[in-house]
Amino acid sequence: MSATIIIMTLVLLLTLCAPFGVKYAVHLARIKDYPHHRKAQNIIFVVCILGVLLLEGLIQSSGGSGSLASQSKYYQTAFFKVTLISHIFVAVISYILWTLLIVISNVKFRKTLPGKFSALHKKMGYMIFGGLIYTAITALMVYIMSLNLI
Ligand code: HEM
Repeated sequence: MSATIIIMTLVLLLTLCAPFGVKYAVHLARIKDYPHHRKAQNIIFVVCILGVLLLEGLIQSSGGSGSLASQSKYYQTAFFKVTLISHIFVAVISYILWTLLIVISNVKFRKTLPGKFSALHKKMGYMIFGGLIYTAITALMVYIMSLNLI
């Protein structure tokens, strides 16, 4: 197995685990264990950002965007293109919102969170959670099609 496939597989596993990690962290908020909710969210975020940077480095060193996916026999199909483009779109939006939520929530913790910021925090939190689920499902589809596993 080449280093490229090992890195892709590791980042895929991370992407698949992220929604489960966030689900557990949300559970901690629901039982009002806010310090552990915060800690878990911060750890999951940092680990996922490192994974994305690793993947981005891999993509750039293999010749830029499209270089890995172009090996796929599905590359020219509309289904593959729609899956890949929607995957990138939702992943980028989710990671931007996630970064914002992490930074703002850390600043506001114990000042207006819980408090005035709670409603927006929860709304953004559930949106990001949904985004991470979509990102994970489409990442698996892109991975399977890129490596011609089916
Ligand atoms: C490190 C930064 C974070 C801090 C300090 C923090 C803190 C909190 C606090 C204090 C609450 C309770 C709010 C209340 O009920 O009044 C809460 C709830 C919640 N948080 Fe966070 N949070 C952080 C990051 C995140 C992230 C990144 C997400 C999602 C990706 C998230 C998702 C949620 C959700 C969904 C709830 C509502 C849970 C429920 O339904 O009761 N949080 N958070």
